[in-house]
Amino acid sequence: MWAWQCVLGGYGARDSELMTLKAVKVIQNADLLLYDRLVSNDVLDLVGPDAKLLYVGKTAGYHSRTQEEIHELLLSFAEAGATVVRLKGGDPLVFGRGGEEMDFLQRQGIQVKVIPGITAASGIAAELGIPLTHRGIANSVRFLTGHSRKGGTDPLFVAENAADPDTTLVVYMGLSTLPSLAQKLMHHGLPSNTPAVAVERGTTPQERMVFAELKDLADKIVLVELVSPTLIIIGKVVALSPFWPQTLKEASFLVEVK
Ligand SMILES: C[S@@+](CC[C@H](N)C(=O)[O-])C[C@H]1O[C@@H](n2cnc3c(N)ncnc32)[C@H](O)[C@@H]1O
Repeated sequence: MWAWQCVLGGYGARDSELMTLKAVKVIQNADLLLYDRLVSNDVLDLVGPDAKLLYVGKTAGYHSRTQEEIHELLLSFAEAGATVVRLKGGDPLVFGRGGEEMDFLQRQGIQVKVIPGITAASGIAAELGIPLTHRGIANSVRFLTGHSRKGGTDPLFVAENAADPDTTLVVYMGLSTLPSLAQKLMHHGLPSNTPAVAVERGTTPQERMVFAELKDLADKIVLVELVSPTLIIIGKVVALSPFWPQTLKEASFLVEVK
């Protein structure tokens, strides 16, 4: 029997309506909610009148708390007997460092419950009408990070085995490394005319997106000045979106897709 507990929950891409009922329930019953950047006010409004809110978000180059400080905060509040909810965007276990927090807390004897959230890939693909897998077109989907652990732009070693025309690639945090990733994918055999899309602030009213063939995507992103958070989807399934531009639909590539 565990004495203390902490709940790691996801609030679904960036659209609060994409939260699970389970996440809503734990937020309503939390004593303390630690939350990240871009959590909308309607989510924060769900907490009870006596609950405390603590912002622990990060933006590029600025972290309101280090990861170690977040670990210690979660631990101290959970040990004090509070019902602690650590709320993260999307799914806490998809590029959310939820695994690290869970591992740390469990090693300190804290029970951790994880409530899945709708990851950006699912929320955005649904919004754009892109099936991440599709019989005869994409038989697998792969989530990649474009961010290196060092935070730099060192080579993305995954490109070699990710260059599979039958796999949909979803790149998180990939804005700055896309030029290098795209070159490597094409070098390793992914057709340069593979359909792709970059979506900024997907599932929110501020959503902006740019569709292009892989070879042109990085330039188009620069042209329209997309900023973080942006998600990139690369694969033949992108051309199935009703938003895929007509001019690109007529390209010979689509003949191969059918
Ligand atoms: C640290 S990761 C967190 C991912 C999150 N745990 C999830 O499951 O969606 C942040 C990255 O996710 C992507 N992302 C998350 N929400 C997004 C959104 N609403 N629109 C576009 N990209 C998003 C971006 O690539 C962003 O840089």
